[in-house]
Amino acid sequence: MTRIAVTGGAGRLGRSLVAGLAAAGHELVSLDRSTSDAAELSGIDQIAVDLTDPDAAARAIAESRTDALVHLAAIAVPFSAPEDVILRTNATLALNVLSAGVAAGIGRIVTASSPTVLGYGAPAGWLPDRFPLDERTTPKPWNAYGLSKLLAEQTITMLSRQTGDATRFAAFRPCYVIAPEEWHGAPTQQGHTVRERLDDPALSAPALFNYVDARDVATFVDVLLEALPGIPNAEVFFVGADDALARRPLAELLPQFVSGTEQLAAELTGSSPAFSNAKARRLLGWRPTHTWRGELGEDAVGAAPDTEHPIPRKDVLA
Ligand SMILES: NC(=O)c1ccc[n+]([C@@H]2O[C@H](COP(=O)([O-])OP(=O)(O)OC[C@H]3O[C@@H](n4cnc5c(N)ncnc54)[C@H](O)[C@@H]3O)[C@@H](O)[C@H]2O)c1
Repeated sequence: MTRIAVTGGAGRLGRSLVAGLAAAGHELVSLDRSTSDAAELSGIDQIAVDLTDPDAAARAIAESRTDALVHLAAIAVPFSAPEDVILRTNATLALNVLSAGVAAGIGRIVTASSPTVLGYGAPAGWLPDRFPLDERTTPKPWNAYGLSKLLAEQTITMLSRQTGDATRFAAFRPCYVIAPEEWHGAPTQQGHTVRERLDDPALSAPALFNYVDARDVATFVDVLLEALPGIPNAEVFFVGADDALARRPLAELLPQFVSGTEQLAAELTGSSPAFSNAKARRLLGWRPTHTWRGELGEDAVGAAPDTEHPIPRKDVLA
């Protein structure tokens, strides 16, 4: 059992992450602007703190006396506040929280980034070198949110240059997070339901049809925290489902929404996603267990064969 602090623990992803890590046998502390009466947080230690205040952040993180820290707190939606506010808030939160973790002697520190660091959707156009997108794809953020997430990734790299391997860091880029209740019709982050996102591809296209079940993010963070001492420091991981959130192959859909991708997307046949989760499989032995077809009870016609990335055995990963 590990004692883990989660900032933004009362948020959309935070609630599922806290619940999942607690169910896996860990002791949790949620740090958020205010305490929450959400069912997932019942029985969990909660600290109300404005983490943009560096002294308050340092005090709260030191007092929570944890072995691990997972930083989620942020303005989580692009353009939901003025650009300068998003950049300042998210960069400040990352610096305050992650450096407070180092100062408190926490040995394992993880921060949430975002696939948007890649810069898809840029008004002036965007094309990657190849699909599927992975951790080698060059980040080209085009708005303050994507830039702030790249800064969060760079903050762990910066801190690792200060601490060396005495502190183990990682960043992860969760795809469009679907919380358990959202499979049953609760609105997703962008306000529409999962079914609406599937019925109208224009709703899912801005995220390049990516998604991940929040419970799979919890298992990812669990295995990541355990693996941190044995993997290279300050790595970045995409965390996405095995399939695309779409009823038709992305080889057909992507060119309709991202001009110039006809050739690049040609291999995204069946249900193949635009984002690869192969690195998390290879380095951590993690794989997602939830799919939209399984959750919505739709059949798996067109599912991609799972041949590309066999699951590595955990004991050969160290
Ligand atoms: N939801 C997604 O699809 C998604 C995708 C990619 C990345 N992310 C990242 O995951 C993280 C969590 O996202 P989410 O969807 O749960 O967002 P959310 O908005 O639901 O939760 C964020 C939480 O951070 C807290 N917070 C914000 N400012 C704070 C402050 N100054 N002090 C203390 N707490 C503060 C909020 O109160 C909130 O509970 C974010 O870093 C986001 O950028 C989310």
